[in-house]
Amino acid sequence: MDNKKKYIGSLPQKELLKLYAKHVNGPKVRFFKAAGLGVIPGERKGIMLKTLAGPRQTDPPLEIYNCRSSGGVFNLGHCNPTIVRTLKEALDAGLDLGDHQLLSEQRALLGKKMAELLPGDISKTTFGVSGGEAIDCAIKFSRAYTKRKECVSTIGGYHGHTGFALATGDPNFRDNFLWSFPEFKQVPFGDAEAMRNAVGENTACVIFETIPATAGVLLASKGYFSEVREICNETGAMMIIDEVQAGLGRTGHMWAIYGGVYPDEKVIPDFMVLSKGMSAGIYPLSTCSYKPFIEKAVFKDDPFIHISTTGGAELGCVVALKMLEIQSDPKFLDHVRKMGTIFGEGLEKIKQEYSDLIKEVRGRGLMWGVEFYEEEDSLLAMISIIKEGVLLNYCGNKKDTLIIMPPLIVEKGDLEEILIRISRGVLKLKNLKK
Ligand SMILES: Cc1ncc(COP(=O)(O)O)c(C=O)c1O
Repeated sequence: MDNKKKYIGSLPQKELLKLYAKHVNGPKVRFFKAAGLGVIPGERKGIMLKTLAGPRQTDPPLEIYNCRSSGGVFNLGHCNPTIVRTLKEALDAGLDLGDHQLLSEQRALLGKKMAELLPGDISKTTFGVSGGEAIDCAIKFSRAYTKRKECVSTIGGYHGHTGFALATGDPNFRDNFLWSFPEFKQVPFGDAEAMRNAVGENTACVIFETIPATAGVLLASKGYFSEVREICNETGAMMIIDEVQAGLGRTGHMWAIYGGVYPDEKVIPDFMVLSKGMSAGIYPLSTCSYKPFIEKAVFKDDPFIHISTTGGAELGCVVALKMLEIQSDPKFLDHVRKMGTIFGEGLEKIKQEYSDLIKEVRGRGLMWGVEFYEEEDSLLAMISIIKEGVLLNYCGNKKDTLIIMPPLIVEKGDLEEILIRISRGVLKLKNLKK
């Protein structure tokens, strides 16, 4: 058996769906089948992925533009050749996970690179595997530093499913797990007055995504980030910014909070949390980066107090370093800005054409939300557009909005094709409603 067949399409899709339902998650398989999308991703390359077979199993594989990018995991597309080469080189050179209790060359080098790129004096990094883990780390460190317990997050925001991260989220994600902490409260995103009222002398930290993705790709008015910074300065609360989706060049700027949403609004948080894109789609790694004054409160008495065995794996550090080298290049960021303008204008045109269905298009760089008047239309449009060959999804906490995030390496010709397909998908929805 050749290697490809060994790993991709080793069994017919029908059998794999049965195995998935039996041993992984039955309701998920039923959900995808009901939407006419009972397919399993197979080959993937660049901005495209293929399914193993079509929805009717006898159909040929679907070829899809991945405009989900798994929230930024595939910023550099699937199996980016430079990243794959780098990982193979590091394996051949004899690197492995490393031992988390020991010191590490690769973690030192990645920490230095992060310090060079992050805004202001954010210069220390603690590593993890997942986004939720890195968020938990930021909240824990805030509590250690401030000796306070309260946390203020924003309604609809999403920071993961681990302990503290889950506690910051909406009840729909928490309730089934009986997860509710009295010290955690939520306020509307973009409302500085509500934030001011919620934050006080017991607040350890304020946390939000610069462009909340799950909440509907929301854009705060100019001045909001600076005002929250001020509130944190006045009360001593730590400002934690989650750029798991909006960071690493997604807005056409390295950091959304530092010029990515409004070029002349550059705010320096106390913590910056990254994940998804840090993996370059190949090797999971998350980072919780913070200002140096925080270190003492966490590690002085016990440098081993925070542990993640596979967090900051040395192979992952090598991958992340190469990814940062590519994505922080001014030419790369310029490309994202140019593609972002083309894509934003194209989506706006689609909105004008279907103004009876689409309420608003908003975004920055290559992170866009398309809000429909009706939640049902957004869900039907999502299925219709996927069937046209563009993978995207609705926002988990604002289902009337589709979130579209093409890989950052997307080219003009691809975007034009993607826009045609999105438009066709919306047209089919419109015809369906007649
Ligand atoms: C903005 C944001 N923060 C944090 C997370 C949590 O990341 P993970 O699923 O790796 O724990 C996610 C995941 O979707 C996210 O979108």
